Amino acid sequence: MGQIMRDDFYNIIKSRKSIRQFKKQEVPQEVIERLLEAASHAPSGKNYQNWRFFVVQGEKRNEYLKYSQKSWLGIKDILQKKLKPSLYAFTERFFFTMGDAPVIIFAYSWNSPEERHYTSIGSVYMAVQNINLACEVEGLGCCTMGAPLEIYKEVDRFLGADQLEEYRKGEMELLCAVAIGYPDHNPPKAARQTEGRIKWLK
Ligand SMILES: Cc1cc2nc3c(=O)[nH]c(=O)nc-3n(C[C@H](O)[C@H](O)[C@H](O)COP(=O)(O)O)c2cc1C
Repeated sequence: MGQIMRDDFYNIIKSRKSIRQFKKQEVPQEVIERLLEAASHAPSGKNYQNWRFFVVQGEKRNEYLKYSQKSWLGIKDILQKKLKPSLYAFTERFFFTMGDAPVIIFAYSWNSPEERHYTSIGSVYMAVQNINLACEVEGLGCCTMGAPLEIYKEVDRFLGADQLEEYRKGEMELLCAVAIGYPDHNPPKAARQTEGRIKWLK
């Protein structure tokens, strides 16, 4: 790999940051398909490719707002203690509007009985990270969200995930949502911590 490609690669990783305010601009279908294709190239335990995605747009996305608002109730008290008031207000707005994101991809794990649960989950998050990085090269922004898990049973019903055979067998698990769209703000990059994160052994 040439020096320029290498530098570009690391710059893409470093420039990614969560975006929580989006332009009211649709994302073309072929771009969404490229994101999903990038996801499909992630590694996965036993190569099960056990991710299951629900791509939500349009009227269905608008309907989701009431669920997003409900998920806020589960986490607002923790965030009120953690965030300064202006950031708390911004985050609350984000949950009420999903930052106007035109696309929300919900990521599920199919947890095969033969595969250890935690490797199944790890595989799906690898695919979700590919979506995050693909957004970066597409000029899109995104925010991975664990908040829907606060009300996962309702979200499962809303998406129709509960109609799937694998779900009925208790093998499907919602892991996160990814709100996606063209960025309409440029937040500061969250500082990276290095202390205590890595132990070198020889
Ligand atoms: C598993 C996971 C769950 C997250 N859940 C939420 C969420 O519910 N709401 C939100 O606003 N951000 C959420 N985030 C985004 C994090 O807050 C964000 O990644 C972190 O603050 C670091 O900032 P950065 O992404 O800009 O580097 C989540 C991120 C991950 C990986």
